[in-house]
Amino acid sequence: MKDKNAKVAIVTGGGQGIGAEIALHLLSQNMHVIVAELHPESKNFNLKEHDRLLIIKTDVKKETSIKQMIKRGINHFGRLDYLVNNAGILPDEHAVFEKITLKTWNDYIATNLTGAFLTSKYAAPHLRKHKGSIINIASTRALQSEGNCEPYAASKGGLVALTHELAISLAPDIRVNCISPGWIDNHHMKITKKDHEVHPVGRVGKPEDIAHLVSFLISDKAAFITGQNFIADGGMTIKMIYK
Ligand SMILES: NC(=O)c1ccc[n+]([C@@H]2O[C@H](COP(=O)([O-])OP(=O)(O)OC[C@H]3O[C@@H](n4cnc5c(N)ncnc54)[C@H](O)[C@@H]3O)[C@@H](O)[C@H]2O)c1
Repeated sequence: MKDKNAKVAIVTGGGQGIGAEIALHLLSQNMHVIVAELHPESKNFNLKEHDRLLIIKTDVKKETSIKQMIKRGINHFGRLDYLVNNAGILPDEHAVFEKITLKTWNDYIATNLTGAFLTSKYAAPHLRKHKGSIINIASTRALQSEGNCEPYAASKGGLVALTHELAISLAPDIRVNCISPGWIDNHHMKITKKDHEVHPVGRVGKPEDIAHLVSFLISDKAAFITGQNFIADGGMTIKMIYK
């Protein structure tokens, strides 16, 4: 039976990787979770174990898909407290700047940035009712560059800016914060010993590193924090590398 007082969170792109870990972490805190996922078939949840989980096939690039997902979620759980804008497409390691097409640029902006704008827009009226909270998952690539990653970097930089703007527009009802992860092992990457060692903390990040931060930032313990971007990167952005 559904607990009407239990908090309800939407996690976009929660079918795998960081989003799946965030969803599982919130479920473990007795919340109800709506996973809004483009490829629900890739989900790594055991539905039988999680009767507080609702997975809705959603494309955050499409306004109608987002509106339907929120309507279904509200019909199912009756309220909405938190939104985690996590859905994203990752950088293409083989891209070359001059060969990046307009379509590629538009796909990154539509998924990583416009998706968060639209989902926040349609979630906001419901979040306001419960003094809710929004977390945007950006990236340290909003702040640092390896090259040839322009569509991704610009989409994540936009997400950092969207965060502080939303924090003012939605205040005092809704707190809005951003997390910029560094390198996180989302379970489909090849990671070497050297990759771990280059990090000041001695390892690449884990999805749970981000899930724990989400959990803190949406909680009342973070009630005085809004509009901020939190870097979780094992110290990589403060490390000077000249050789
Ligand atoms: N893994 C990292 O090192 C890292 C670092 C910094 C930031 N991030 C960010 O964290 C978030 C999650 O990354 P991840 O590593 O778990 O990636 P991932 O590829 O494992 O998971 C992304 C999820 O988003 C979903 N998705 C993609 N497009 C969608 C759409 N249009 N609508 C709904 N869902 C969609 C995918 O199906 C997938 O389940 C992304 O926003 C990513 O940019 C990841």
